[in-house]
Amino acid sequence: MRRPVARFAGFGRGIPPKVLTNHEFAAMGLDTSHEWIVERTGIVERHIAAEHETTCSMAADASCTAMHRAGVTAGEIDVIVLSTATPDRLLPATAVDLQAAIGAHRAAAFDISAACSGWLYGLTVAEGLIMTGTAETALVVGSEKMSAIVDWTDRSTCVLFGDGAGAAVLRPSTDERGILSSYMRSDGRLANLLYRPQGGATIPMSEEVLRERGHLVKMAGREVFKSAVLCMAESVDRALDAAKVTADEIDLLVPHQANIRIIEATAKHAGIPMEKVFVNIDRYGNTSSASIPISLDEVTERGIVGEGSLVLIAAFGAGLTWGSMVVRL
Ligand code: COA
Repeated sequence: MRRPVARFAGFGRGIPPKVLTNHEFAAMGLDTSHEWIVERTGIVERHIAAEHETTCSMAADASCTAMHRAGVTAGEIDVIVLSTATPDRLLPATAVDLQAAIGAHRAAAFDISAACSGWLYGLTVAEGLIMTGTAETALVVGSEKMSAIVDWTDRSTCVLFGDGAGAAVLRPSTDERGILSSYMRSDGRLANLLYRPQGGATIPMSEEVLRERGHLVKMAGREVFKSAVLCMAESVDRALDAAKVTADEIDLLVPHQANIRIIEATAKHAGIPMEKVFVNIDRYGNTSSASIPISLDEVTERGIVGEGSLVLIAAFGAGLTWGSMVVRL
């Protein structure tokens, strides 16, 4: 097992209070049912941000808790890595708005775009910055206002997603605690399985784009599902091998919360019983890159795992992107 370079010093989450239940979709005129959504996805409800709650404001809530728990001040943050598929503005990065909001004036701040795998990608980048001595204290955030980019008339996507943010403070490791392995992959040949076709620089926003809903999320659900199962299985194997630990030694699997059936398939493949798998998709839906840091905040807050626990993280998202990590908390 390699000696870790960076460890988690504190987690936090920022969740908008408004809850949208499955039952409310039918009332909105969507041809769906609570039973269908629960059976096919495991989702019961999700949180939805109000107009004044932004990717930045949710990130700030999560970051303040993470910094408080880590015992660091905003002035000590050297770098902010913010993962999001829903930046508040297209220019500049939402990370600099977060920097201003929390007063981390010494930091370098930038966004990462790797969809639901973005927080894991961001952690790996931050770990590298700590390894080279470029940064000592890193704030790694996943924040998503998915409600702003889903098509509320498309039952196959809008029921899946929710809003929220999660954050972690990363510091140099001084003992055996920290990131023990990280594995990242992507396959751009599959980019069009889950994407927003228009509204970028190639086909800029226009009345026609808005009318045709070309700027909203489009997804080939069944194909994404199949890829997710294969990719998450591959990545947990790689991360366990690289950390030289067996599945039996893992105290908790914290997977990206996209679909309960994908989570169960990943756990089964890894040989990890569901009692050792954290699931909160029923309460949040898919919060994209926020799902794993929100989960880590919940499991540490509730004492499900604690200092010294061995945790396996697995992510998957648009791109396609995927990855996995073994960490000792
Ligand atoms: N309510 C009721 N019926 C729905 C529905 C909903 N919310 N969404 C889709 N359906 C219908 C479809 O229209 C289809 O109807 P048809 O047979 O008349 O055409 C039927 O259910 C089956 O659709 P299918 O896509 O095969 O269902 P599924 O079992 O694959 O479940 C998903 C659909 C989207 C839940 C599932 O494919 C999935 O979770 N994919 C992965 C998505 C994901 O995780 N994306 C994010 C990755 S980070």
